[in-house]
Amino acid sequence: CGIVAYVGSQDAVPIVLEGLQRLEYRGYDSAGLAVLGRGGALKVRKAKGRVRECAEGLPARFKGPVGIGHTRWATHGEPSDANAHPHVSGTVAVVHNGVIENAEELRAKLEAQGVEFSSETDSEVLAHLIATSGAGDLAEAVRSSLTQVVGTYGIAVIDAARPGECVVARNGSPVVLGLGDREMYAASDVAALVGHTRQVVHLDDGELAVLTASGYRTFTLEATATVKQPSQLEGEAQAYEMGGHAHFMAKEISEQPEVVRRALRGRLDGRFHTAHLGGLNLEAREARAIRRVKIIGCGTAYYSGQVGAQLIEELARIPADAEPASEFRYRNPVVEPDTLYVAVSQSGETYDTLAAVQELRRKGGRVLGLVNVVGSAIARACDGGIYLHAGPEVSVASTKTFTATGVAFALLALYLGRIRDLSPAEGARVAAGLRALPEQIEQVLAQQEHIARVARELAEHRAAFFIGRVRGFPVAREGAQKLKEISYLHAEAYPASELKHGPLALIDPGLPTVAVLPDDELRDKNLTTLGEIAARRGRTIVVAHSPVPGVPPQDVILVPRNEPELDPILMTVPLQLLAYHAALTLGHDIDRPRNLAKSVTVE
Ligand code: G6P
Repeated sequence: CGIVAYVGSQDAVPIVLEGLQRLEYRGYDSAGLAVLGRGGALKVRKAKGRVRECAEGLPARFKGPVGIGHTRWATHGEPSDANAHPHVSGTVAVVHNGVIENAEELRAKLEAQGVEFSSETDSEVLAHLIATSGAGDLAEAVRSSLTQVVGTYGIAVIDAARPGECVVARNGSPVVLGLGDREMYAASDVAALVGHTRQVVHLDDGELAVLTASGYRTFTLEATATVKQPSQLEGEAQAYEMGGHAHFMAKEISEQPEVVRRALRGRLDGRFHTAHLGGLNLEAREARAIRRVKIIGCGTAYYSGQVGAQLIEELARIPADAEPASEFRYRNPVVEPDTLYVAVSQSGETYDTLAAVQELRRKGGRVLGLVNVVGSAIARACDGGIYLHAGPEVSVASTKTFTATGVAFALLALYLGRIRDLSPAEGARVAAGLRALPEQIEQVLAQQEHIARVARELAEHRAAFFIGRVRGFPVAREGAQKLKEISYLHAEAYPASELKHGPLALIDPGLPTVAVLPDDELRDKNLTTLGEIAARRGRTIVVAHSPVPGVPPQDVILVPRNEPELDPILMTVPLQLLAYHAALTLGHDIDRPRNLAKSVTVE
């Protein structure tokens, strides 16, 4: 979901539409906008489908200096014209991201007062609450309405009865103000602002702002004025341009050598062969007392957490495991004082992960965040953490942040290991492996043509298995996830060791298996599994360190050897390319896969 708002002297319509297009990458199923004409007339257009479709054939009278827009990803109510935002009540129009938890209750109350609803959404209650608040000005109407609301929101509100201003508010769903010259912007994501201004103000939870052409003022839900320090956007603008690549996903895959360099910058200590992680907020003595590490995240973040758990167990010898944040929060977890909790999130907004962090903190758990977006809700909810510094990730299918998270976990494992039993020599070995990664990723990227050929053949099948053993298993899971997300082929990841306990029954010439085969202590076991597949005339595609007996070279993707603990990071890269080229072959909308959103800010 995305929000864009404009107040100034230009026509708001093209600005809002362009902003919405910039937010398309986040995933959505309907779009809409509302504009206040110079005479104060409210005009609304909304429709199921793409921003382009919503913009088509807009009449010339759709014009005015104040406007709001929205892209919606359905939660309450199916995608439809009626459920699309803005929602209107009288002269008021509202766009909303988030979930109103007491919507049913508020709706019943409003209906009892004679208010008629025209959609099934929880968001519509906001429009009616504001329109019927009876307050003298819009800011007060919005503020007093929000005090009745339980839930998360990022909203933008305009009112034809009070033209010339727009009120925005944030609680758990981001809102950023963009400061222009005698004009103001607001959006749920800086992506919509970079084309207009570099000066931004991030609202905090429980904060509102009134925007007019001449400026803004901010205040809290308790009506106390706040003072904000504008910050400057650096480098972000480029991240939202494709820069010669056919897709953001291709661009972000290609950025990975630089992403690793950035994630490592200033963090390796060549003297003590450990890692400097200033943001952990953890004294060495506290870190030594950790008896267990529990990692939570969703989707790709969860799989990178599995890579992380193995790194921590191997290098620091602390029992560690990963679990989907969504599962974790619903099962009333036992929170222990000597467990270190680690939340992983690219966006820092994923609601399931945020809610898990809040539950952990409430129970006194210590939580670190491995987060890409600086200052995001999850980053702020944690006790400390490691920023990934991967730069904005636009493609829905996550790639460079998986790699950056793997590196961040390796640094954390190195640090935790070196205050325990990991020797200086071992620390130096891991550090050297990390330093070698960027160049080795470049070597994998250089094989793009070969991988594309393999992918074209893979795309002819309807499904594929992905297998890996121990360190290779999270790699297989992430590889399968990438293929599912963008090629829509069925892909199932299995521990190689488990294949013979069931799924082997499915193997035949029509069901290929993608195998992760590092030259580690488990290579022979993995070769046995490949033999079992071959005996059923199953076809295999292998990501390996060296040629694989019985598998023709055209079906092998060779990657350079790193340190065994770090191999999973490197071995995921060819699987990203495999999924990318399979989706390309099938002609899918790679950066905007169906049914998916970049960050899922709802339960
Ligand atoms: C969504 C996206 C996934 C992503 C997951 C976690 O489901 O489609 O690609 O891995 O959220 O996102 P986060 O921002 O928390 O890493």
